[in-house]
Amino acid sequence: MSEASLDHTLRIFRAVGEETRLRIMVLLARGELTVTELTQILGQSQPRVSRHIKILAEAGVVERYPEGAWVFYRLQDMKPEMAVLEKSLALLKSSSDLIIARDRERLEQVRRARAELAASYFQESAAEWDSLRRLHLPESDVEQAMRDMLGTTRVEQFVDLGTGTGRMLIVFQDIYAQGVGFDLSREMLAVARARLEEAGVTHARIRQSDLFSLPLESGTADIVCIHQVLHFLSDPATAISSAKTLLKPGGRMLVADFASHELEFLRENHAHRRLGFSDAEVQGWAQGCGLDLVRSQTLAPGKSEKGKLTVKLWLLSLPQDKKVKSRRKADIHA
Ligand SMILES: C[S@@+](CC[C@H](N)C(=O)[O-])C[C@H]1O[C@@H](n2cnc3c(N)ncnc32)[C@H](O)[C@@H]1O
Repeated sequence: MSEASLDHTLRIFRAVGEETRLRIMVLLARGELTVTELTQILGQSQPRVSRHIKILAEAGVVERYPEGAWVFYRLQDMKPEMAVLEKSLALLKSSSDLIIARDRERLEQVRRARAELAASYFQESAAEWDSLRRLHLPESDVEQAMRDMLGTTRVEQFVDLGTGTGRMLIVFQDIYAQGVGFDLSREMLAVARARLEEAGVTHARIRQSDLFSLPLESGTADIVCIHQVLHFLSDPATAISSAKTLLKPGGRMLVADFASHELEFLRENHAHRRLGFSDAEVQGWAQGCGLDLVRSQTLAPGKSEKGKLTVKLWLLSLPQDKKVKSRRKADIHA
């Protein structure tokens, strides 16, 4: 156990011992935010909010994560001596205190606005999605690598989150007895319905639902697939942890998304929020909710695939026995 230092502890409590800064901490306990979003929620000027964040970052409780033209802020992992602060934040997060409740409501508004932006993008591009998707993805390599990673052993239940046009339900049709795909966009689901019919896939159904609140019993899925969805979400970490609750013990989650990149225009023109993800980030989310990272794979585009991005696959699993230790980072990326 680490030794608590008076200086260090004082610095943290001084930093968080102020109303706006504590409100920022409570908001970040719900997931990463940009300074613009914090400004909208707190109703304070950007320079003021930036000043508060700087103090929190200097005290080591908030992490600054620049990504292209945007900067995300998130809570740092708390040291054991800060367990009391962690507990307070957890309690405040769902408190009915008027200020906290108003912040929570504004946070929801900000997230809804973002989700609506993405939803209208998918509404408009549903019909041409399959060709749009190919623009940035070395598609057939990715699909083959995903199949290799999951293997050919048949499972009972396959769940595809953010199923879009249902492509993953088609690609994996031979390894599941029952498939179900969830998506927010009715327009995408209309295309998915037609695609599944064309492909003769009768053992998969699709449902309209937000992946953050799925109408599915927990502990029932053998495989959960999240293909090219995380970079659209306001809170990818929470998406992983809520998807985890669907898994049976020993169940697997296959996450496919872009490796970190710098194509800022994907934010402006294609509703992306995050410019890809690093191994460390995904591994942190997995470990944070009790999943093991079994394997990761990098799929760089070939020379003839100009303009396409590197794709990463991460295979996570829910241990059969909770005592099973997570593998060491070095073992995984060896
Ligand atoms: C890039 S598409 C990927 C579709 C599909 N997985 C594929 O491989 O083609 C992302 C999909 O995620 C859906 N989506 C975004 N946010 C969502 C959410 N909160 N809940 C459910 N679906 C969501 C979008 O509607 C869109 O269809």
